[in-house]
Amino acid sequence: MIRTQILGLGSYVPDRVVTNSELPFLNDRHERQETQQSETNDEWIAKRTGIRERRYVPNDGSVATSDLALQAAKRAIADANLEPGEIDCIILGTLSPDIHFPGTAVFLQKKLGIADRNCACFDIRQQCSAFVYGLQMADAFIKTGMYKRVLLVGAELHSHSLDYSTRGRDVMVLFGDGAGAVVLGPQETDDPRAGVMYTAAHADGNGAMDLYLKIFDIAKAPYVDYDARDREQNQAKYPQMDGKRVFLNAVRGMVMSTQAALAKTGLSWDDIAWFVPHQANLRINEKVVEVAKIPADKVLNTIQFYGNTTAATVPLTIDYWRQQGKVKRGDRILASVFGSGFTWGAAIFTF
Ligand code: ACO
Repeated sequence: MIRTQILGLGSYVPDRVVTNSELPFLNDRHERQETQQSETNDEWIAKRTGIRERRYVPNDGSVATSDLALQAAKRAIADANLEPGEIDCIILGTLSPDIHFPGTAVFLQKKLGIADRNCACFDIRQQCSAFVYGLQMADAFIKTGMYKRVLLVGAELHSHSLDYSTRGRDVMVLFGDGAGAVVLGPQETDDPRAGVMYTAAHADGNGAMDLYLKIFDIAKAPYVDYDARDREQNQAKYPQMDGKRVFLNAVRGMVMSTQAALAKTGLSWDDIAWFVPHQANLRINEKVVEVAKIPADKVLNTIQFYGNTTAATVPLTIDYWRQQGKVKRGDRILASVFGSGFTWGAAIFTF
């Protein structure tokens, strides 16, 4: 029987660390100013979100989302002992694409030096749930023999599209830049628990406008009808969120998908080495752990120092804890995600 195996893992975060204390002093180009630009502070952010710091790219136009993806992808490909030319499919999850179209996966393909190779390129738009959605796609492609070496990347560049004024503080404090990637391939085995054992992806479009970033409205002509530099008119270019509704639905979606993953596979927490939840807010994860009765010593978080990197959080967190010596090859992981859409899901896989 063909099963999907994780062959390699890699991640990347930019060097610049932005602490909660520095954040209120940043302007819209995230340059530090003498005076406070937004009314927020370390105490509020740490208490309500668990976040202490996050990473930002430079603001000089030198780094795009595909560059973050490239660094993580190169590390994952090297970790799999492969060459970029052996990748025959790229699935890239992002809510911060380089440009509106074409998708960011083709820019990554070019930067990997494989633009002339036979490699399918998909962009997926499931925000914080992209890793589980992408894993489900990759698993189906590999099991059917459609592709043999799938590069699945989550990459986000949030720091250029946040509202650094008091108006945007509820969203602005949450997000950071970063990328994570895995390379997946087939494995011939009789073990039904090997590799990617389970994936489930869900959505509820009723929540679509509870967390969104509009930028334009294609139903209108002109489809961009505001002055992007006018502070009173420009809210369409910043993410908008009903934090409480997101919080409640995130807890519900992640608890339900985690419990379903165990029930449908017949596994218990004794069979799982690590629980890796999406990193949106530490309080969301603590609530999920409490309600779903997850052993606390199996939970991996990175939100404290990377913030929410949406599509990147799951591979970034696994790679971080691998580098710390906690996660080891062969460990079984249950990942649970929730994001804008609403979308959510869970996966069980052996790393
Ligand atoms: N600094 C200081 N004060 C703030 C900030 C801030 N950054 N943001 C909001 N406040 C104020 C509010 O204005 C409000 O003031 P008021 O009482 O005078 O009206 C007060 O703090 C309390 O605000 P609440 O919204 O009630 O605070 P809450 O405890 O709900 O926390 C938060 C807000 C952190 C946004 C929370 O709702 C949350 O985490 N929601 C989920 C958000 C999330 O995870 N989004 C992304 C997930 S999906 C994805 O990743 C794509």
